[in-house]
Amino acid sequence: MDVKHLFQALDKNDCLLYTLVIIWRYADMDTSLAGKTYVVTGATSGIGLAAAEQLAQRGANILGVGRSAARCSECAAKLEAQYPNARVAYLVADLSLQAEVRALAQAVGEQLAAWGLKALDGLINNAGTFTSWQTLTPEGFETQWAVNYLASFLLSQALMPLLQAGPQGRIVVVSSGSHYHTKLRWDDVQLRRNYNGLRAYKQTKLADVLMVAEMGRRLGPNSTVRAFAADPGLVNTEIGLKGTNGLARWVWSLRRGGGISAEKAAQGIVFLATEPAIQVSQEVYWKHGRPQAPSPHALSEEAGRRLWEMSLQMTGMSLP
Ligand SMILES: NC(=O)c1ccc[n+]([C@@H]2O[C@H](COP(=O)([O-])OP(=O)(O)OC[C@H]3O[C@@H](n4cnc5c(N)ncnc54)[C@H](OP(=O)(O)O)[C@@H]3O)[C@@H](O)[C@H]2O)c1
Repeated sequence: MDVKHLFQALDKNDCLLYTLVIIWRYADMDTSLAGKTYVVTGATSGIGLAAAEQLAQRGANILGVGRSAARCSECAAKLEAQYPNARVAYLVADLSLQAEVRALAQAVGEQLAAWGLKALDGLINNAGTFTSWQTLTPEGFETQWAVNYLASFLLSQALMPLLQAGPQGRIVVVSSGSHYHTKLRWDDVQLRRNYNGLRAYKQTKLADVLMVAEMGRRLGPNSTVRAFAADPGLVNTEIGLKGTNGLARWVWSLRRGGGISAEKAAQGIVFLATEPAIQVSQEVYWKHGRPQAPSPHALSEEAGRRLWEMSLQMTGMSLP
């Protein structure tokens, strides 16, 4: 029986009731994230702040991460005022330091416990940086490698038990279309000998996609946790105005004008973190909610294994 005949067979009151139930179900399915909890790194500006806002708007619990205590307080207050139905907490961590990434994972667990929760629904590894100059962290890593790649690897592993504790866990790593234009220099992945800011940035973004592909293989098709890499496109943010020299700032101030808004870019990332229909997808790399072929270098199983082992060594972890 089709819907028209079904409705004809029902009396007026039944029709009204079923219509209301259908509207309520679809409205609820489409938008509400009430009861779900997401960690968003780099949630103090640009794409990360926009993603945190979109998740909060749909009623999710937000654990935002930023490196500045003042900006974290400001963003937390803004989200709380705008979205009173969402629970919001911001945690301060400089993700260039592994010690702070580990402390952050601990703090996430503590905040979940304080909210009476045992699981995390998603982790959005969005924090990123571009530096014109070669800078080493106090732990001895090149800064872009530490923030854009290694922190995402370490935080994903540290939060994996909490992501596995829920019915469906998501890891989204914000990569970039710039990953297509490079290869990993295995003998010097941090470009210590011959540093170039843009080359270093592209390498970290390729490493992000390689990591997601390898994580997917290691988790296997039956895992409740899925990992996706996101390409946000060219986005009008201030990333190229921080930690850069005058020429790079000038180039970025012209280039970013052709980009999309952070809000638009965040939609594709929130989709990857929340859309139930893609839970079974084996696609690795997505742009604006659509799967794309990544660079062939990102799909090399040998390279994925090699990077994984190198990352374990760099973070002092031992995983199966
Ligand atoms: N904009 C683009 O066209 C574009 C294109 C492709 C990919 N992406 C990627 O998109 C992501 C977001 O970038 P965006 O464009 O939105 O830039 P953004 O506005 O500068 O946002 C970057 C975020 O990361 C945070 N961050 C930087 N270094 C950190 C550290 N050491 N510890 C903790 N947090 C740190 C920043 O904190 P502060 O607020 O304190 O600066 C900020 O919240 C990055 O991964 C970027 O590589 C951007």
